[in-house]
Amino acid sequence: MCQYQAVDGHIGRWHLAHHSRFALGGLGAAILEATSVTADGRITPGCTGIYDDAHISGLRSITELYRDHGVLSGIQLSHAGRKGSTARPWEGAAPLEANGEEPAWRTVAPSAVPARPEWPVPLALCEDGIAAIVEAFRTATLRSYEAGFDFVEIHGAHGYLIHSFLSPLANQRNDRFGGSLENRMRFALMVAEAVRSVSSHDRPIFYRASVIDDVEGGVTLEDSIVLATALRERGVDVVDCSAGGIVGPVALGLLKQKPNFQVPLAAAIRAKAGVATMAVGLIIDPVSAENAVANGHADLIALGRELMADSNWVYRAARQLGVSNPEKVFPPEYAFYLGSGPIDLRCSI
Ligand SMILES: Cc1cc2nc3c(=O)[nH]c(=O)nc-3n(C[C@H](O)[C@H](O)[C@H](O)COP(=O)(O)O)c2cc1C
Repeated sequence: MCQYQAVDGHIGRWHLAHHSRFALGGLGAAILEATSVTADGRITPGCTGIYDDAHISGLRSITELYRDHGVLSGIQLSHAGRKGSTARPWEGAAPLEANGEEPAWRTVAPSAVPARPEWPVPLALCEDGIAAIVEAFRTATLRSYEAGFDFVEIHGAHGYLIHSFLSPLANQRNDRFGGSLENRMRFALMVAEAVRSVSSHDRPIFYRASVIDDVEGGVTLEDSIVLATALRERGVDVVDCSAGGIVGPVALGLLKQKPNFQVPLAAAIRAKAGVATMAVGLIIDPVSAENAVANGHADLIALGRELMADSNWVYRAARQLGVSNPEKVFPPEYAFYLGSGPIDLRCSI
């Protein structure tokens, strides 16, 4: 989850404090926030980047944190496209000013169509520009492994560049990247191929999709089933099923959120595209999370805000679900004391 605390794309002390909570929380894996493959692909000036070799050492401090405590780590590789160059959410998320303290940069998109009518018009990418961004995803994947990440996730959701190529609401091109679904998927598939080309077979590749736009004329579930099938054929292992974000500055702006609201999307993609899925979106209750996996709706469960509120969610879930020795989700430094029952503090400490 974006923290908006990077400086020139670099990881800082906030990120270490933030990720330490999850490194100790008994998770199976953690995915670092949307991290841009180019400087102009950041959402805000505070977003993390992986567009320079100099970013690697900071990113390594995150992967080491997770590895030290037995948690796998992934990184979400992204390009914000026409939703870049904005202020942080708590500063209003509006487009940056050209002469502001943090100056605006020119955004790029499939077509010269802004994310909102009053926003600056992005530059429509030419074929060379598209190829350069695909190459940036490839280079970023190499840097990710050098930094120690176990896997990468391609950010193909929430109205950012890859999603904006897919959605007819943002893509009005009439070349081989626009028009038919096959053409609108081309950029996503080129990115997936580039990422797979530098990933050994034991490296899983995740792809986060906005499975539906939930807006008239936008991406439908049927479109996403075709996309997910094509991604699977190109070596994507997990489709992380989110939704929304093509219109407006904030992901999920138009969708009505209620507990487990996106699980049916993960179930449909899993059943129809034959690919493993990850479910996300207000999965709060451990029983619902367990059922989503047990009932074959998803292979993995992702938590965002609930984990932010309670980084010990996994321990709580293990207790609630009646797992034996639930304390073992923690490293031994915690597990020993939580699992040993009443102890005589006078002689043991
Ligand atoms: C502060 C914040 C930052 C987020 N950053 C990202 C991000 O970097 N990449 C992404 O794909 N989704 C991002 N999201 C969306 C979440 O990953 C998640 O899909 C959404 O919050 C719904 O799940 P939840 O109900 O468990 O939070 C963010 C959401 C929030 C609230």
